[in-house]
Amino acid sequence: MTGLVEPYTPRSSSPPHARPATGAQPLLDVRNLSLSFTTAQGALPVTRNVSFSIAPGERVGLVGESGCGKTVTGLSLLRLLPTHSARIQGDVLFDGTDLLKLSPRRMRAVRGRDIAMIFQEPMSALDPVFTVGDQISEAYRIHFPASKAEGRERAIAALREVGIPAPERRCDEYPHQLSGGMRQRVMIAMALICKPKLLIADEPTTALDVTVQAQITDLLRSLSERTGTALIFITHDLGVVAETCTRMITMYAGEVVEDAPVDDVLTRPRHPYTSGLLRSLPGLSKRRGVLSSIPGRVPSPQAMPGGCRFRSRCAHAAPGCEQEQRMIALAQDHAARCWRAPELELPGAVN
Ligand SMILES: Nc1ncnc2c1ncn2[C@@H]1O[C@H](COP(=O)(O)OP(=O)(O)O)[C@@H](O)[C@H]1O
Ligand code: SF4
Ligand SMILES: [Mg+2]
Repeated sequence: MTGLVEPYTPRSSSPPHARPATGAQPLLDVRNLSLSFTTAQGALPVTRNVSFSIAPGERVGLVGESGCGKTVTGLSLLRLLPTHSARIQGDVLFDGTDLLKLSPRRMRAVRGRDIAMIFQEPMSALDPVFTVGDQISEAYRIHFPASKAEGRERAIAALREVGIPAPERRCDEYPHQLSGGMRQRVMIAMALICKPKLLIADEPTTALDVTVQAQITDLLRSLSERTGTALIFITHDLGVVAETCTRMITMYAGEVVEDAPVDDVLTRPRHPYTSGLLRSLPGLSKRRGVLSSIPGRVPSPQAMPGGCRFRSRCAHAAPGCEQEQRMIALAQDHAARCWRAPELELPGAVN
Protein backbone atom coordinates (compact mmCIF):
# COMPACT_ATOMS: atom_id res chain seq x y z
CA MET A 1 0.00 0.00 0.00
CA THR A 2 1.02 3.43 -0.47
CA GLY A 3 0.31 6.97 -0.34
CA LEU A 4 0.55 9.38 2.47
CA VAL A 5 -1.59 7.72 5.01
CA GLU A 6 -2.64 8.59 8.52
CA PRO A 7 -2.77 5.59 10.85
CA TYR A 8 -6.17 5.17 12.42
CA THR A 9 -6.38 6.05 16.06
CA PRO A 10 -9.67 7.27 17.44
CA ARG A 11 -9.75 11.07 17.27
CA SER A 12 -6.21 11.04 16.01
CA SER A 13 -4.71 14.45 15.56
CA SER A 14 -1.30 13.21 14.47
CA PRO A 15 -0.04 14.38 11.07
CA PRO A 16 -0.16 11.97 8.13
CA HIS A 17 3.00 9.99 7.66
CA ALA A 18 4.53 8.14 4.76
CA ARG A 19 3.12 4.69 3.99
CA PRO A 20 4.09 1.73 6.16
CA ALA A 21 7.40 0.08 5.30
CA THR A 22 6.81 -2.66 2.74
CA GLY A 23 10.35 -3.91 2.33
CA ALA A 24 11.24 -3.80 -1.35
CA GLN A 25 11.58 -0.46 -3.11
CA PRO A 26 8.49 0.21 -5.20
CA LEU A 27 8.82 0.43 -8.96
CA LEU A 28 6.66 3.52 -9.00
CA ASP A 29 6.08 5.80 -6.06
CA VAL A 30 3.70 8.68 -6.70
CA ARG A 31 3.59 11.28 -3.97
CA ASN A 32 1.18 14.17 -3.72
CA LEU A 33 0.67 14.46 -7.45
CA SER A 34 -1.52 17.45 -8.16
CA LEU A 35 -2.51 18.68 -11.57
CA SER A 36 -4.09 21.95 -12.59
CA PHE A 37 -4.86 23.43 -15.97
CA THR A 38 -4.39 27.06 -16.83
CA THR A 39 -7.66 28.48 -18.12
CA ALA A 40 -8.95 31.95 -18.96
CA GLN A 41 -10.50 31.98 -15.46
CA GLY A 42 -7.20 31.07 -13.77
CA ALA A 43 -5.74 27.80 -12.47
CA LEU A 44 -8.23 24.93 -12.47
CA PRO A 45 -7.18 22.16 -10.04
CA VAL A 46 -8.09 18.74 -11.46
CA THR A 47 -6.30 16.23 -9.24
CA ARG A 48 -5.12 16.73 -5.67
CA ASN A 49 -2.40 14.95 -3.70
CA VAL A 50 -2.67 11.68 -5.58
CA SER A 51 -0.36 9.23 -3.82
CA PHE A 52 0.16 5.52 -4.48
CA SER A 53 2.93 3.11 -5.24
CA ILE A 54 3.33 0.04 -7.36
CA ALA A 55 5.67 -2.88 -6.78
CA PRO A 56 7.61 -4.47 -9.64
CA GLY A 57 5.26 -6.73 -11.62
CA GLU A 58 2.18 -5.66 -9.65
CA ARG A 59 -1.17 -5.20 -11.43
CA VAL A 60 -3.24 -2.35 -10.11
CA GLY A 61 -6.69 -1.24 -11.24
CA LEU A 62 -7.35 2.50 -11.17
CA VAL A 63 -11.12 2.88 -11.02
CA GLY A 64 -13.78 5.56 -10.72
CA GLU A 65 -16.59 7.07 -12.76
CA SER A 66 -15.93 9.17 -15.82
CA GLY A 67 -14.36 12.52 -14.92
CA CYS A 68 -12.66 11.37 -11.70
CA GLY A 69 -9.16 12.06 -13.04
CA LYS A 70 -7.92 8.59 -14.04
CA THR A 71 -6.73 9.51 -17.53
CA VAL A 72 -5.07 12.78 -16.51
CA THR A 73 -3.26 10.90 -13.74
CA GLY A 74 -1.87 8.38 -16.27
CA LEU A 75 -0.89 11.21 -18.61
CA SER A 76 0.71 13.18 -15.74
CA LEU A 77 2.94 10.22 -14.85
CA LEU A 78 4.31 10.18 -18.38
CA ARG A 79 4.25 13.97 -18.77
CA LEU A 80 2.05 13.65 -21.81
CA LEU A 81 -0.12 16.67 -21.03
CA PRO A 82 0.37 19.97 -22.89
CA THR A 83 3.23 21.79 -21.14
CA HIS A 84 1.76 25.24 -21.80
CA SER A 85 -1.45 24.57 -19.86
CA ALA A 86 -0.83 21.68 -17.46
CA ARG A 87 0.91 22.33 -14.15
CA ILE A 88 2.02 19.15 -12.40
CA GLN A 89 3.32 19.15 -8.83
CA GLY A 90 4.52 16.34 -6.59
CA ASP A 91 6.94 13.47 -7.09
CA VAL A 92 6.78 10.59 -9.54
CA LEU A 93 9.60 8.31 -8.45
CA PHE A 94 10.23 5.58 -10.98
CA ASP A 95 13.00 3.21 -9.92
CA GLY A 96 14.04 5.98 -7.56
CA THR A 97 14.26 8.71 -10.25
CA ASP A 98 11.81 11.61 -10.18
CA LEU A 99 10.31 11.68 -13.66
CA LEU A 100 8.99 15.19 -13.13
CA LYS A 101 12.57 16.44 -12.88
CA LEU A 102 13.95 14.74 -15.98
CA SER A 103 14.92 16.77 -19.04
CA PRO A 104 12.52 16.39 -21.99
CA ARG A 105 15.16 14.29 -23.78
CA ARG A 106 15.59 11.86 -20.88
CA MET A 107 11.84 11.69 -20.43
CA ARG A 108 11.45 10.67 -24.09
CA ALA A 109 13.90 7.83 -23.44
CA VAL A 110 11.78 6.59 -20.52
CA ARG A 111 8.53 6.71 -22.54
CA GLY A 112 8.09 3.58 -24.57
CA ARG A 113 11.24 1.94 -23.23
CA ASP A 114 10.60 1.81 -19.46
CA ILE A 115 6.96 2.85 -19.28
CA ALA A 116 4.47 2.36 -22.10
CA MET A 117 0.87 3.48 -22.37
CA ILE A 118 -2.03 2.21 -24.46
CA PHE A 119 -5.36 3.94 -24.99
CA GLN A 120 -9.00 3.18 -25.62
CA GLU A 121 -8.91 3.89 -29.33
CA PRO A 122 -5.93 2.20 -30.98
CA MET A 123 -6.62 3.90 -34.33
CA SER A 124 -5.69 7.25 -32.82
CA ALA A 125 -2.25 5.94 -31.90
CA LEU A 126 -1.56 4.01 -35.12
CA ASP A 127 -0.39 5.77 -38.26
CA PRO A 128 -2.63 4.78 -41.19
CA VAL A 129 0.11 5.14 -43.80
CA PHE A 130 2.62 2.67 -42.32
CA THR A 131 2.29 -1.10 -41.99
CA VAL A 132 1.82 -2.42 -38.47
CA GLY A 133 5.15 -4.25 -38.77
CA ASP A 134 6.98 -1.00 -39.58
CA GLN A 135 5.34 0.75 -36.63
CA ILE A 136 6.20 -1.97 -34.13
CA SER A 137 9.73 -2.21 -35.49
CA GLU A 138 10.13 1.57 -35.23
CA ALA A 139 8.94 1.54 -31.61
CA TYR A 140 11.89 -0.77 -30.91
CA ARG A 141 14.48 0.97 -33.09
CA ILE A 142 13.84 4.38 -31.46
CA HIS A 143 15.33 2.97 -28.26
CA PHE A 144 17.70 0.19 -29.31
CA PRO A 145 20.17 -0.14 -32.18
CA ALA A 146 18.79 -2.72 -34.64
CA SER A 147 18.76 -3.22 -38.40
CA LYS A 148 15.49 -3.05 -40.32
CA ALA A 149 15.64 -6.83 -40.74
CA GLU A 150 16.05 -7.37 -37.00
CA GLY A 151 13.25 -4.89 -36.30
CA ARG A 152 10.96 -6.85 -38.59
CA GLU A 153 11.87 -10.15 -36.91
CA ARG A 154 11.12 -8.61 -33.54
CA ALA A 155 7.81 -7.21 -34.81
CA ILE A 156 6.76 -10.65 -36.08
CA ALA A 157 7.69 -12.25 -32.76
CA ALA A 158 5.76 -9.55 -30.89
CA LEU A 159 2.67 -10.06 -33.06
CA ARG A 160 2.88 -13.79 -32.37
CA GLU A 161 3.18 -13.15 -28.64
CA VAL A 162 -0.04 -11.10 -28.58
CA GLY A 163 -1.90 -13.89 -30.36
CA ILE A 164 -2.17 -12.52 -33.89
CA PRO A 165 -2.46 -15.42 -36.35
CA ALA A 166 -0.14 -15.51 -39.41
CA PRO A 167 2.08 -12.73 -38.03
CA GLU A 168 4.44 -12.81 -41.05
CA ARG A 169 1.53 -11.76 -43.26
CA ARG A 170 -0.16 -9.41 -40.77
CA CYS A 171 3.15 -7.60 -40.32
CA ASP A 172 2.80 -6.14 -43.82
CA GLU A 173 -0.80 -5.01 -43.40
CA TYR A 174 -2.06 -1.52 -42.66
CA PRO A 175 -4.09 -0.66 -39.55
CA HIS A 176 -7.37 -0.28 -41.49
CA GLN A 177 -7.08 -3.90 -42.64
CA LEU A 178 -7.37 -5.14 -39.04
CA SER A 179 -10.39 -5.46 -36.73
CA GLY A 180 -10.62 -3.30 -33.58
CA GLY A 181 -9.50 -6.22 -31.40
CA MET A 182 -6.53 -6.95 -33.68
CA ARG A 183 -5.54 -3.29 -33.65
CA GLN A 184 -5.57 -3.27 -29.86
CA ARG A 185 -3.34 -6.38 -29.95
CA VAL A 186 -0.98 -4.49 -32.26
CA MET A 187 -0.91 -1.61 -29.78
CA ILE A 188 -0.07 -4.05 -26.98
CA ALA A 189 2.69 -5.58 -29.13
CA MET A 190 4.08 -2.11 -29.78
CA ALA A 191 3.84 -1.15 -26.11
CA LEU A 192 5.64 -4.29 -24.95
CA ILE A 193 8.31 -4.54 -27.68
CA CYS A 194 10.94 -2.82 -25.49
CA LYS A 195 9.98 -4.93 -22.45
CA PRO A 196 8.91 -1.96 -20.30
CA LYS A 197 8.75 -2.31 -16.53
CA LEU A 198 5.34 -0.63 -16.44
CA LEU A 199 2.39 -0.56 -18.82
CA ILE A 200 -0.39 1.98 -18.31
CA ALA A 201 -3.52 0.74 -20.09
CA ASP A 202 -6.25 3.41 -20.24
CA GLU A 203 -9.66 1.80 -20.87
CA PRO A 204 -8.03 -0.53 -23.43
CA THR A 205 -11.15 -2.63 -23.93
CA THR A 206 -13.93 -0.04 -23.69
CA ALA A 207 -14.32 0.38 -27.47
CA LEU A 208 -14.41 -3.38 -28.13
CA ASP A 209 -17.28 -5.85 -28.10
CA VAL A 210 -17.71 -7.99 -25.01
CA THR A 211 -16.04 -11.20 -26.25
CA VAL A 212 -13.03 -9.32 -27.55
CA GLN A 213 -12.87 -7.30 -24.31
CA ALA A 214 -12.43 -10.52 -22.35
CA GLN A 215 -9.71 -11.74 -24.71
CA ILE A 216 -7.72 -8.50 -24.45
CA THR A 217 -8.10 -8.45 -20.66
CA ASP A 218 -6.83 -12.04 -20.46
CA LEU A 219 -3.97 -11.17 -22.77
CA LEU A 220 -2.86 -8.23 -20.65
CA ARG A 221 -2.95 -10.31 -17.49
CA SER A 222 -1.06 -13.23 -18.97
CA LEU A 223 1.57 -11.01 -20.62
CA SER A 224 2.12 -9.19 -17.33
CA GLU A 225 2.47 -12.52 -15.50
CA ARG A 226 4.86 -13.87 -18.10
CA THR A 227 7.08 -10.82 -18.58
CA GLY A 228 6.92 -9.28 -15.10
CA THR A 229 5.69 -5.97 -16.55
CA ALA A 230 3.69 -4.09 -13.91
CA LEU A 231 0.27 -2.87 -15.02
CA ILE A 232 -1.87 0.14 -14.20
CA PHE A 233 -5.26 -0.80 -15.60
CA ILE A 234 -7.39 2.34 -15.85
CA THR A 235 -11.04 1.42 -16.15
CA HIS A 236 -14.55 2.25 -15.00
CA ASP A 237 -15.26 -1.51 -15.06
CA LEU A 238 -14.61 -3.06 -11.64
CA GLY A 239 -15.30 -6.52 -13.06
CA VAL A 240 -12.20 -6.20 -15.23
CA VAL A 241 -10.15 -5.23 -12.18
CA ALA A 242 -11.48 -8.21 -10.22
CA GLU A 243 -10.28 -10.52 -13.00
CA THR A 244 -6.99 -8.86 -13.83
CA CYS A 245 -5.50 -7.03 -10.87
CA THR A 246 -4.32 -7.72 -7.36
CA ARG A 247 -4.88 -4.21 -6.05
CA MET A 248 -7.47 -1.55 -6.65
CA ILE A 249 -7.18 2.20 -6.26
CA THR A 250 -10.44 4.15 -6.33
CA MET A 251 -10.40 7.77 -7.48
CA TYR A 252 -13.19 10.22 -6.83
CA ALA A 253 -13.30 13.85 -7.97
CA GLY A 254 -9.53 14.05 -8.50
CA GLU A 255 -8.47 12.29 -5.30
CA VAL A 256 -7.56 8.75 -4.33
CA VAL A 257 -10.28 7.65 -1.89
CA GLU A 258 -9.41 3.98 -1.37
CA ASP A 259 -6.35 1.77 -1.90
CA ALA A 260 -6.63 -1.93 -1.11
CA PRO A 261 -5.96 -5.50 -2.23
CA VAL A 262 -8.69 -6.55 -4.67
CA ASP A 263 -9.81 -9.51 -2.55
CA ASP A 264 -10.28 -7.30 0.50
CA VAL A 265 -12.06 -4.48 -1.25
CA LEU A 266 -14.50 -6.78 -3.06
CA THR A 267 -15.64 -8.32 0.18
CA ARG A 268 -15.25 -5.33 2.43
CA PRO A 269 -14.91 -1.92 0.81
CA ARG A 270 -14.15 0.77 3.37
CA HIS A 271 -15.12 3.90 1.43
CA PRO A 272 -18.81 4.52 0.68
CA TYR A 273 -17.96 5.45 -2.92
CA THR A 274 -16.18 2.16 -3.62
CA SER A 275 -19.05 0.31 -2.00
CA GLY A 276 -21.49 2.16 -4.26
CA LEU A 277 -19.45 1.29 -7.36
CA LEU A 278 -19.37 -2.38 -6.36
CA ARG A 279 -23.09 -2.48 -5.71
CA SER A 280 -23.87 -0.99 -9.11
CA LEU A 281 -21.91 -3.73 -10.86
CA PRO A 282 -24.37 -6.31 -12.25
CA GLY A 283 -21.90 -9.15 -12.77
CA LEU A 284 -20.48 -9.12 -9.28
CA SER A 285 -23.55 -8.23 -7.26
CA LYS A 286 -26.17 -10.40 -8.94
CA ARG A 287 -25.84 -13.17 -6.38
CA ARG A 288 -26.89 -10.68 -3.76
CA GLY A 289 -29.97 -9.79 -5.79
CA VAL A 290 -29.29 -6.11 -5.14
CA LEU A 291 -28.44 -3.60 -7.80
CA SER A 292 -28.16 0.02 -6.86
CA SER A 293 -26.64 3.04 -8.46
CA ILE A 294 -25.07 6.02 -6.77
CA PRO A 295 -27.36 9.04 -6.89
CA GLY A 296 -26.00 12.31 -8.25
CA ARG A 297 -22.84 12.85 -10.25
CA VAL A 298 -19.14 13.56 -9.94
CA PRO A 299 -18.58 17.28 -9.24
CA SER A 300 -16.72 19.13 -11.95
CA PRO A 301 -13.37 20.78 -11.21
CA GLN A 302 -15.10 24.17 -11.64
CA ALA A 303 -17.54 23.41 -8.81
CA MET A 304 -15.54 21.31 -6.38
CA PRO A 305 -17.11 21.24 -2.91
CA GLY A 306 -15.03 21.67 0.23
CA GLY A 307 -14.72 18.90 2.82
CA CYS A 308 -15.39 15.35 1.69
CA ARG A 309 -15.95 15.59 -2.04
CA PHE A 310 -18.36 12.65 -1.99
CA ARG A 311 -20.56 14.19 0.67
CA SER A 312 -23.54 15.22 -1.48
CA ARG A 313 -23.90 11.63 -2.74
CA CYS A 314 -23.06 9.75 0.43
CA ALA A 315 -25.74 7.93 2.43
CA HIS A 316 -23.44 7.99 5.47
CA ALA A 317 -22.72 11.71 5.53
CA ALA A 318 -22.73 13.14 9.04
CA PRO A 319 -21.50 16.22 10.85
CA GLY A 320 -17.72 16.02 10.50
CA CYS A 321 -17.83 15.18 6.80
CA GLU A 322 -17.57 18.87 5.93
CA GLN A 323 -13.92 18.63 7.07
CA GLU A 324 -11.15 17.84 4.58
CA GLN A 325 -10.57 14.07 4.63
CA ARG A 326 -7.23 12.30 4.86
CA MET A 327 -6.36 8.75 3.87
CA ILE A 328 -6.65 6.57 6.97
CA ALA A 329 -4.91 3.18 7.29
CA LEU A 330 -7.55 0.63 8.28
CA ALA A 331 -5.68 -2.62 7.91
CA GLN A 332 -2.48 -3.91 6.46
CA ASP A 333 -2.43 -2.53 2.92
CA HIS A 334 -5.89 -0.97 3.10
CA ALA A 335 -6.63 2.75 3.41
CA ALA A 336 -9.62 4.98 2.75
CA ARG A 337 -10.29 8.72 2.70
CA CYS A 338 -13.22 8.77 5.13
CA TRP A 339 -13.16 9.49 8.84
CA ARG A 340 -16.15 7.18 9.34
CA ALA A 341 -14.49 4.22 7.59
CA PRO A 342 -13.38 2.50 10.82
CA GLU A 343 -16.99 2.20 12.06
CA LEU A 344 -18.93 1.72 8.81
CA GLU A 345 -20.01 -1.76 7.68
CA LEU A 346 -20.32 -1.33 3.93
CA PRO A 347 -21.61 -3.93 1.49
CA GLY A 348 -19.19 -5.21 -1.14
CA ALA A 349 -19.71 -7.30 -4.24
CA VAL A 350 -19.05 -10.74 -2.81
CA ASN A 351 -20.38 -12.11 0.43
N1 LIG B 1 -7.09 19.60 -21.09
C1 LIG B 1 -7.96 19.78 -20.08
N2 LIG B 1 -8.32 21.02 -19.67
C2 LIG B 1 -9.19 21.22 -18.66
N3 LIG B 1 -9.78 20.19 -17.98
C3 LIG B 1 -9.47 18.95 -18.34
C4 LIG B 1 -8.56 18.66 -19.41
N4 LIG B 1 -8.46 17.29 -19.53
C5 LIG B 1 -9.27 16.78 -18.58
N5 LIG B 1 -9.88 17.75 -17.86
C6 LIG B 1 -10.82 17.58 -16.76
O1 LIG B 1 -10.20 16.78 -15.78
C7 LIG B 1 -11.15 15.94 -15.13
C8 LIG B 1 -10.64 14.52 -15.14
O2 LIG B 1 -10.69 14.04 -16.47
P1 LIG B 1 -10.20 12.58 -16.88
O3 LIG B 1 -8.86 12.31 -16.34
O4 LIG B 1 -10.36 12.48 -18.36
O5 LIG B 1 -11.26 11.64 -16.15
P2 LIG B 1 -11.46 10.06 -16.28
O6 LIG B 1 -10.35 9.49 -17.09
O7 LIG B 1 -11.47 9.55 -14.87
O8 LIG B 1 -12.79 9.90 -16.94
C9 LIG B 1 -12.45 16.13 -15.87
O9 LIG B 1 -13.27 17.00 -15.13
C10 LIG B 1 -12.04 16.76 -17.16
O10 LIG B 1 -13.06 17.60 -17.66
S1 SF4 C 1 -16.36 11.44 4.96
FE1 SF4 C 1 -18.56 11.42 5.29
S2 SF4 C 1 -19.47 12.01 3.33
FE2 SF4 C 1 -17.35 11.42 2.95
S3 SF4 C 1 -17.43 9.26 2.38
FE3 SF4 C 1 -17.07 9.35 4.60
S4 SF4 C 1 -19.10 9.27 5.50
FE4 SF4 C 1 -19.40 9.78 3.36
MG1 LIG D 1 -10.45 8.48 -18.91
